[in-house]
Amino acid sequence: MTTSIRNRLTLWLIPVLLVAGITFAVPTWLNVHEEIDELFDKVLREAAYSLSHSNSLQDVKPNTNSSGLNSDGIDLVSQTRGPDGRILFRSHSFSPLPQGGKLGYDTLNWQNQDWRVFNLKTDSGFVQVAQTTQERRETANEVALHVLTPLLILLPGLALWVGWAIGRGLAPLAQVAEAVACRNPHSLVPIPNKGLPEEVSILVSAINTLLSQLDQALAAQRQFTADAAHELRSPLTALSLQAQLAERATEPAQRDLAMQTLRQGIARASHLVQQLLILARLDPEAGDYPLTPLFLDDLARNVVADFAPQAAHRHIDLGLSRADHVRVACTEEALRILLGNLLDNAIRYSPADARIDVSVTSEATAIRLEVNDTGPGIALDERARVFDRFYRVLNSAESGSGLGLSIVRRIAEQHQADIRLVDGDGGIGLKVIVTFPEASA
Ligand SMILES: Nc1ncnc2c1ncn2[C@@H]1O[C@H](COP(=O)(O)OP(=O)(O)OP(=O)(O)O)[C@@H](O)[C@H]1O
Ligand SMILES: [Mg+2]
Repeated sequence: MTTSIRNRLTLWLIPVLLVAGITFAVPTWLNVHEEIDELFDKVLREAAYSLSHSNSLQDVKPNTNSSGLNSDGIDLVSQTRGPDGRILFRSHSFSPLPQGGKLGYDTLNWQNQDWRVFNLKTDSGFVQVAQTTQERRETANEVALHVLTPLLILLPGLALWVGWAIGRGLAPLAQVAEAVACRNPHSLVPIPNKGLPEEVSILVSAINTLLSQLDQALAAQRQFTADAAHELRSPLTALSLQAQLAERATEPAQRDLAMQTLRQGIARASHLVQQLLILARLDPEAGDYPLTPLFLDDLARNVVADFAPQAAHRHIDLGLSRADHVRVACTEEALRILLGNLLDNAIRYSPADARIDVSVTSEATAIRLEVNDTGPGIALDERARVFDRFYRVLNSAESGSGLGLSIVRRIAEQHQADIRLVDGDGGIGLKVIVTFPEASA
């Protein structure tokens, strides 16, 4: 019950209406009673005076045919006495009104009822006019009820109307909920925002932003899966062909060659799968990793050592030319993959006897990691494209998945690092510059 906004608002409103009703009704009720009392008091006095002025009190004819109380009109009883106390006139058949009490207005109990009396003493006698207090109260209640009836009808009416109005006001929410319920991973079109109240419109805008992000993320995932499937198909087809060749080979030398090609093919395919897995793990949607400060020179020294055998195998001179002892905020594993991919490229695409220099430089506002090789380099118009997934420079003799630099770029983004490809030192080869933001303490 209380979880509905409509019910809650209505509940909160009821005390307000009650308080408003009471603050209006109680003073009105009291005022009416006071005014009616004053009015009847005046009537009593006027009646007493007019009775005393009707020539002489003796002229008044006694009224003995009834009790003197009417069923409608104002019920007053009146009574006159002579100066000697003898009753000259009474408007009723009951026992006489008791004399005594104070002059003017007085209240007395007579005939088992409370009466308001006006006692008037004149030269020619004593006049009394009285009215039951109960009659006054009844009249006052009746008048007050007449005055308050519209309010009594208005308040519940108002509560109902407000409940209805809140319901109307909240209707757009239900509309939006219905629209959201219609969305699914295959249909993430924005929810129409037109004509909605401002408060709901803010919510809808937020939902729409979320929907579009979700749509992009899903599209990227679909694209990635499609690309991965496509890229895996060729190496797998090649593998099965090579396996067939190995099977059919009759000569041992022929078979050895076929087996060697098969092994290379398997190595390439597993490299591709490995790169794909790394890329999937680095996906922006997979969430960001916490960065911790780490000495970049130590890490570079380690990775260079890891790649030393591969470089030596190709007679390439790989070394750390400069290593400033400086920290960067990073995830160690990711940074190892970044540098590893750059070194793998430099070694793989450079000819034998090439030279590869890695350097870590601390600058005033940034930290630079550079990999400089003396290989063929990358043509200017290719430099932006090599970062695309699966993009490989044509006519490359070396095999590869075309994912290495995409991975490098994604890791650089995660570390808010900037990555640039420029000509190598002396205009030979390629220099990759990764610039990290200022060192963390
Ligand atoms: N140091 C380099 N010298 C010359 N060409 C390079 C160098 N680094 C990258 N390239 C070119 O850029 C292309 C893209 O490189 P990337 O590392 O993204 O993919 P890959 O090396 O083909 O595959 P992977 O790294 O996934 O095994 C490569 O095909 C290569 O032609
Ligand atoms: Mg590569």
